[in-house]
Amino acid sequence: MAQRALTGIKPTGEPHLGNWLGAIQPALGLARDYETYYFIADYHALTSVHSGDALRGYVRSISAAYLAFGLDPKRSAFYRQSDVPEIFELSWILSCFTPKGFMNRAHAYKDFVARNQKAEKDDDADINMGLFGYPVLMAADILMFNADIVPVGADQKQHVEFARDIAEKFNRNYGEDVFRLPEPRISESVKTITGLDGRKMSKSYDNTIPLFLDEKPLLKRINQIVTNSQAPEEPKNPDESHVFALHQLLLEAGEEKALRAQYQAGGMGWGAAKKLFFEALNEKLKGPRAEYNRLLADPGYLDAVLAEGKDRARATAVPFLEKIRGLVGVR
Ligand code: TRP
Repeated sequence: MAQRALTGIKPTGEPHLGNWLGAIQPALGLARDYETYYFIADYHALTSVHSGDALRGYVRSISAAYLAFGLDPKRSAFYRQSDVPEIFELSWILSCFTPKGFMNRAHAYKDFVARNQKAEKDDDADINMGLFGYPVLMAADILMFNADIVPVGADQKQHVEFARDIAEKFNRNYGEDVFRLPEPRISESVKTITGLDGRKMSKSYDNTIPLFLDEKPLLKRINQIVTNSQAPEEPKNPDESHVFALHQLLLEAGEEKALRAQYQAGGMGWGAAKKLFFEALNEKLKGPRAEYNRLLADPGYLDAVLAEGKDRARATAVPFLEKIRGLVGVR
């Protein structure tokens, strides 16, 4: 049987370049070799998005983005987490096998606590139970479909390891290999995508390049990349340039070498370097942008795709949960 790859996408903002290169592209690449499951983790987003309209909008734009970049819903299962209620029931069952200490040790939770302490607030200020229990729901997402590999960003590696540990505890308790043990898969080449200001590209830093801007605003955004004050004629160090850091992500090895030489030779101002990056990026985004706009204008189509994904996901989830209910003794 083909190995399964599964990954969740948290709809907490409009899709940006970091999402594409760091998540969408590596995830979609797996569809060639694996049986693939991609889903919109809308209930995970609810830990932080508390406006119904905003959440609905993000779900729409993230789904359209995956399709626009080539997700083939005939080939991969593509569904919304909230459309598969069996995942939540499994989440409760798994929580009863999850040491609370795992959650205390979760990096994401600890980061929140550290921020609160820095701000001299109560440790748990603004931390809801959804955020605290987030890794259990994520374990249910993964274990429900017996994923072998889980492509995620480095920040999610620990969550996948929790899923594995929880699965082992469950299997050991019932003396059966009920769940397959998942492995995190971190794509090495694109671990961190630099934002406009040189920090990690992230919505929370407001330093992103949104993927589906029209050409003019896209160029405008690219012009906001922070540079040093070197004059056009001066040679530039590509390894210290945020423009280069982003541009090279779009290039093959040979092209990267040529661009490197162009920076080092001098004679290219930052405006020109940004223009080159814009042109390379725009070339790659033209097709997906048109498709994205077409999809957003046709919500019926998007709904139909997700409805099909829901049926497919539940065809696996319903009988599997039934088996688990039997094992734990609630049936
Ligand atoms: N937590 C992941 C993120 O923030 C999203 C996610 C939810 C996920 N469930 C998952 C990823 C299951 C992989 C597998 O990006």
